[in-house]
Amino acid sequence: MSAIPADLPLRADLVGEEPYGAPQLDVPVCLNVNENPYPLDQEVVDAICQRVRLVAPGLNRYPDREHEELRRALAAYLKKESGTSLQPGQLWAANGSNEIMLQLFQAFGGSGRTALGCDPTYSMYPEYARDTFTDWELAHRLPDFSLDVETTIERIKALRPAMVLVTSPNNPTGTPLPMDQLTRLLEACSQVPVAGADPSARPIVVVDEAYIEFRDPGTPSAVSLIGQYDHLAVSRTMSKAFAFAGARVGYLAASQGIIDAVRIVRMPYHLSALTQAAALAALEHTDLQLARVDQLRQTRRETAEWLAGQQFHGRPLTVVPSASNFILFGIFPDRDAVFEAMKDEGVLIRAVGPQGYLRVCMGTDEEMERFRQTLVHVLKRF
Ligand SMILES: Cc1ncc(COP(=O)(O)O)c(C=O)c1O
Repeated sequence: MSAIPADLPLRADLVGEEPYGAPQLDVPVCLNVNENPYPLDQEVVDAICQRVRLVAPGLNRYPDREHEELRRALAAYLKKESGTSLQPGQLWAANGSNEIMLQLFQAFGGSGRTALGCDPTYSMYPEYARDTFTDWELAHRLPDFSLDVETTIERIKALRPAMVLVTSPNNPTGTPLPMDQLTRLLEACSQVPVAGADPSARPIVVVDEAYIEFRDPGTPSAVSLIGQYDHLAVSRTMSKAFAFAGARVGYLAASQGIIDAVRIVRMPYHLSALTQAAALAALEHTDLQLARVDQLRQTRRETAEWLAGQQFHGRPLTVVPSASNFILFGIFPDRDAVFEAMKDEGVLIRAVGPQGYLRVCMGTDEEMERFRQTLVHVLKRF
């Protein structure tokens, strides 16, 4: 609970709000924030130290505001990871994709503007909207959590949003967004004027690909459409598959126009020289950083199968198919009780998303074994 005295002139719309965040608890098994559970390889650790050592004497100076070397490295990474060639000017990095998203809202949202999301989805989006005075509206997903494309397009036409946000794979459901559905959204947006903007303005479509490296091999990423659609912005992060959450590096791939818009709202020197150095070192070792992704996909397959074989009150658990490193499962009449009981036994998962569901992130083999044992034990008690 935060303690903000009433005589502080806090913005009226923030009164009673709490800081967002999953609990950071000291428990043996943390499967709640969708990190890569494996520590960095010593070779990468050494490379980071070496890069940081090189920049340390220059820390009396501000860093490269345009982080050009990092943008080149990100372009090379996307070429390798998604087969898409982009210019460094079509890339932009920030302190986590949280900051990327906030910058997009700062540049394209604002008072009198609307952003449209497709729920259930990532719980931070309404906060970016709140913080930038942007109206937040929803188009609901179908019962299987895939996008309801028709309804979403109807909502776009009715609301004339400045921004449409889709998450692929979606958090917390793990649902991927097929390219043909994205194309339909992009085409629809190209016909719709934006409320509160110049009559010629058309919405941007933001695809949040925080977990994209966990997709099935061979599946395209939204970055492959950037050359065709100037109003497409793809937000990505090094926090998840790339095993770099502690460094706080997210990035945006988009048309030069969208990147230039974001450059207007960024804080001066937002990305420290230390962050840039560490990110460059990690990007020089992409194979090592991503070495566990196959294994985590396999863990996801095995865990989904195992969960589907479990029963609660005589009925099999519902397991939502996931293309990510987490699985949404349920349905529990009192999910908070199950969550608390798991936590008390040292396994932290997440009570998030639609009523009755819990989300577990893929951990090491030992962590997953402990998760399975604890869940069996806990479910017997309810
Ligand atoms: C869908 C989605 N987008 C963005 C983020 C933010 O990640 P980061 O700021 O670490 O890049 C998260 C983190 O959980 C997420 O789940």
